[in-house]
Amino acid sequence: MDVQKRQQIFDQAKEWILEAGTLIRSQMNNPLIVNTKSNRNDLVTQLDKEVELFFTTKIKQKYPNHSILSEEGFGHSLINKTGITWIIDPIDGTMNLVHQRRNFAISIGIYDQEIGEIGFIYDVMYNQLYSAQKNKGAYKNDQQISWLDNELLLEHAMICFNHRWLCENKLVNEKIMQQLVKQVRGVRAYGSAALEFAYVAEGIVDAYITMHLEPWDFAAGKIIVQEVGGKITSISGEEINPFTGTSLLVCHPQIHQKIIDEYLLQAKK
Ligand code: IPD
Ligand code: CA
Ligand code: CA
Repeated sequence: MDVQKRQQIFDQAKEWILEAGTLIRSQMNNPLIVNTKSNRNDLVTQLDKEVELFFTTKIKQKYPNHSILSEEGFGHSLINKTGITWIIDPIDGTMNLVHQRRNFAISIGIYDQEIGEIGFIYDVMYNQLYSAQKNKGAYKNDQQISWLDNELLLEHAMICFNHRWLCENKLVNEKIMQQLVKQVRGVRAYGSAALEFAYVAEGIVDAYITMHLEPWDFAAGKIIVQEVGGKITSISGEEINPFTGTSLLVCHPQIHQKIIDEYLLQAKK
């Protein structure tokens, strides 16, 4: 994508994201209407829908040729992958929104012919905006995030994954995952995939492992993490397609291969 065009889209998207943040914060003391989707723990609120509609209306007006792939159904059902696509999660971490009224994010990745050009992850309640443009580095608010080139041993790593890995499950042998827990320094689960990507980029955690995410969960994070030298593959080490749901290992480059070879491939059923 032409650099000037990208900067224009970046500035516009940023303005809309900050506006959406103000809208969300203004409603934070209002009751939430909570519904379930695929199962009783898969939540959606009216705010998820309202925020998605906010973005899709603006994008359709200003960029009628762009495609929108988004979680709550206000985007397009057919995506033109030869053009520009906005991949949107209006609220990532809806369970945190419902229970905590914080620790959720707006996540927007913008792709041109399947190449990641722009990523935004906005922690709405803490007003922290992670952003990146291809080959221009990643930022937290106005501060550039450092390249992940420090020496790191697995024993010193903090990794994120949720309890499902440690219970009996269809995908991996939980006993091997328990060995990984014993090997690393600490384990965290924040409940927002987008924020967990941002934390890997920022270097405040060293890996995020997940069994399955949809494109809107990781589209922005993929661009931001790549801009600081982080590695992103499936849990088998394969490359990721931004338009397809997948398992993911998002990681500091120094421990990526070790986690794959010594734990994830061994644990795979
Ligand atoms: C979910 C969150 C959660 C992850 C789930 C996602 P949502 O997104 O990112 O941390 O474990 O897989 O679906 O539903 O809150 O947008
Ligand atoms: Ca999500
Ligand atoms: Ca969501």
